[in-house]
Amino acid sequence: MAANSPPRPPPRRGGGDAPRHEERLQKLIAGAGLASRRASESLILAGRVRVNGTIVTELGAKADPRADKIEVDGKRLMADDLVYFVLHKPKNVVSTLSDPEGRPTVGEMLRRVGARVYPVGRLDFPTSGVLLATNDGAFANGLLHPKKAVPKTYVVKVQGLMADEDLDRWRKGIELDDGPTLPARARLIRHEEDKTWFEITITEGRNHQIRRMGDATRFRVMRLARVSFAGVTHEGLKPGQMRPLSYEELTALREQYGVPKKVRRPAEPPPSARGGGPGGRKLRAAPPKHGKAEQPRRDAASQRGEASRPQGDRREIRSARTDRSGTKPRAADSRAPRARGRAGRSGSRERS
Ligand code: URA
Repeated sequence: MAANSPPRPPPRRGGGDAPRHEERLQKLIAGAGLASRRASESLILAGRVRVNGTIVTELGAKADPRADKIEVDGKRLMADDLVYFVLHKPKNVVSTLSDPEGRPTVGEMLRRVGARVYPVGRLDFPTSGVLLATNDGAFANGLLHPKKAVPKTYVVKVQGLMADEDLDRWRKGIELDDGPTLPARARLIRHEEDKTWFEITITEGRNHQIRRMGDATRFRVMRLARVSFAGVTHEGLKPGQMRPLSYEELTALREQYGVPKKVRRPAEPPPSARGGGPGGRKLRAAPPKHGKAEQPRRDAASQRGEASRPQGDRREIRSARTDRSGTKPRAADSRAPRARGRAGRSGSRERS
């Protein structure tokens, strides 16, 4: 017997009102390391996948790995630790997992983590700075949702001498082809010959927003560096390095934006022994009930690897072709107020 949409599980204990975070079954199966995405589709079509006890043969079917029981050939997919990182994206690196043009990507960097971690949002190829990465879809969605109005702070270098009235236009909103920008906070840093350095905090995530604001006001953006995302900074990280988010940062994000859903306290002896503060579970193939654990595509040690590194650990993730110097923006980065600090400091939030 086959059914095309997975039956809902019984209500969870404690009310069952937690929001569902569903993903396509083939993505979940592939993500668990059982098969490629294409092969996972074949497994579904062949009727070898059950959700909450019912065979599902529809490729569009979705399930929530935390709420639903997903089985492939009777074997249950279990959950991996969820992991959260901040990386200092160098300029001239694509912020996707792969690039058809063969340019360096953050994917090359993130693969070293072991878990299937992906970036939370994007930065343009030439933009450097703070990029979060996770394998927790709800975390990424939560921070990227426009309703959350997550603040993102950039240091910008533009061609031309900006006066405060010019910055005022950026503060109030600039008409772009997809509508006016929301109010922003901006402050002048300095003039340098016929160029201007300033800092701006926006709460939107539109494509190329800052560069388009520059074009619309005839102040062409020459350099762009994100120095804070949701209060998390890359302080102490060189371009190409990354570290797990701390317990304090994750707790602050949860308080302010409702994600991650769970923040696990660092194990004793904290905090240097664990770092990362993985906050939940992600699907992986369950070991058989008897006998040896089956090995997924990556080994368990590599799944845990980065997440359980000490908090102070800085991982070099530089691609051979990425820029190490970043002279001017780095100077500007270091001038950016420390007050933005870590998300753990409640007063550090930027609000536009
Ligand atoms: N705005 C841009 O124009 N580019 C970025 O990378 C980020 C914000």
